[in-house]
Amino acid sequence: MSDSELESHTKTNTIICLNAEDLNQLGLTMPAIVELLSTMFRERATEIMVNPPKIFEHRSEDRFYSSMVSFAPSIGFASCKWQSGDAKNPDRGLPLIQGSLLLSEDKTGQPVALMDAKWITGERTAAASALIAREQSRPKSTALGIIGCGLQARKHLLALTQVVPSLKQCLVYDIVENRMHEFISEMAPKFEIELIATSGPRDVTAAADIIVSGAPIVANPKPVIRPEWVKAGALGISIDYDASWRPETVKTFDIVLTDDKAQFQDEKNKGHFTGVDHIDADICELLTQGQGRRENNQQKILAYNLGIALEDLVVAAEAYRRAIKMGVGTLVHM
Ligand SMILES: NC(=O)c1ccc[n+]([C@@H]2O[C@H](COP(=O)([O-])OP(=O)(O)OC[C@H]3O[C@@H](n4cnc5c(N)ncnc54)[C@H](O)[C@@H]3O)[C@@H](O)[C@H]2O)c1
Repeated sequence: MSDSELESHTKTNTIICLNAEDLNQLGLTMPAIVELLSTMFRERATEIMVNPPKIFEHRSEDRFYSSMVSFAPSIGFASCKWQSGDAKNPDRGLPLIQGSLLLSEDKTGQPVALMDAKWITGERTAAASALIAREQSRPKSTALGIIGCGLQARKHLLALTQVVPSLKQCLVYDIVENRMHEFISEMAPKFEIELIATSGPRDVTAAADIIVSGAPIVANPKPVIRPEWVKAGALGISIDYDASWRPETVKTFDIVLTDDKAQFQDEKNKGHFTGVDHIDADICELLTQGQGRRENNQQKILAYNLGIALEDLVVAAEAYRRAIKMGVGTLVHM
């Protein structure tokens, strides 16, 4: 899109509101989002991209609030995401993660779009996991395991089957049995791989080559995954902070990665991740310098993807460009 097309929108002092239905119309596919993230993580090595650690505070055992800010002149935009996560929300018929993202153009600082952050978060989190799986899973991995059968499980099944074509089965577990069976009934007709219900995280972990943990992030986690459950060569991807992986289990991993070292350290300083004594690489270092890369099929690798603001920014910026071009969304005068 040309600068003049974007300016014709920004000079009217309107912002464009994009809800989940709007965002679904933009043709922003999972492979396209994986590529957006891959490019951003590579460019982070050489360009100015500001991504301070997120503000992430638990209000109670089950509820957190979080704010994530970033800007990057090369992307042309800045963003701020405000969200909450509440583990009790699925019981209330509400999404666990809810929020909004405000996008500003970098040239003037003018806010140009307000978007459903649930959509952005859902897509970019699975895309970041797919990026890790593409780079670090053992060749010919056949079994995926997912703990927690909610939104992220759905997005991860889509994302990981696209980047790891050798997958033949996916083992799942949810503490609420119905949700696990609903997940399988909904997803089985859409995927060629076999979906298998299990009776606990042990069954998932013991069988899987790639394990995605997506239980709720609570204030005082009681992680369950034990060292002896994890197969040689396995790749663990934690999207639930330290909710699932026990500290002694983490110590048995050969390589530990994260998406952003400063943010990880910030959370560690609050008392999280007691099993982690060092991080081998972040995703930028992995992609651009080969740090923390798998060296053999026996190594166990654990990636802590806490989610970073720049991921939100690149996806939101692309969604905005497409929405303007396609005439999608609702204009609101500010
Ligand atoms: N790291 C990131 O960037 C990132 C981004 C988005 C979401 N998340 C986290 O991912 C997790 C899943 O998010 P979601 O949007 O899919 O939520 P969701 O509510 O849609 O799904 C969570 C599922 O986990 C189940 N569950 C609860 N406790 C469990 C347990 N102990 N063991 C197994 N299953 C359990 C619930 O019944 C529910 O079905 C949350 O912790 C969320 O905060 C992380």
